[in-house]
Amino acid sequence: MICKPDAVERGLVGEIIGRLERRGLRLVRAELRQVDKETAGSHYGEHLGKPFYDSLIAHITRGPVLLMVVEGPEGTWQVVRTMMGATNPAAAAPGTVRGDLALSMTENLIHGSDSAESARREIGLFFP
Ligand code: GTP
Ligand code: MG
Repeated sequence: MICKPDAVERGLVGEIIGRLERRGLRLVRAELRQVDKETAGSHYGEHLGKPFYDSLIAHITRGPVLLMVVEGPEGTWQVVRTMMGATNPAAAAPGTVRGDLALSMTENLIHGSDSAESARREIGLFFP
């Protein structure tokens, strides 16, 4: 999981981690770090060429993010995705991070891996 720069800037990191912990998930690794453009490009490689790509990279690299490894039962990535809410906060359900705390598609506070395989790849990318 990543608390994106808007989450760090708005002081919402504690709120986001608190939700995960109250749910019963465990933070096993975390680091506040500014991500460089190359790493961001590799992280979001699947979106290269899309109209929002440049703003996505600009946003994720504009300030420190909190990179996190969250542990729980099998399928935890899915639990985290459900807690995040829809990509577009305008459509995200109340009770989700984005549905409660965000309004902008670019500034949607968090990233969560979308499969167990993505989680492995992303953990390897950010914590080599
Ligand atoms: P991440 O957890 O950040 O990967 O979000 P996601 O999995 O819910 O969405 P997706 O991987 O499809 O898109 C990655 C990020 O690109 C999103 O979190 C948005 O910030 C941004 N994004 C996706 N689609 C759009 C779009 O149509 N317009 C804009 N402006 N941004 C978009
Ligand atoms: Mg995604």
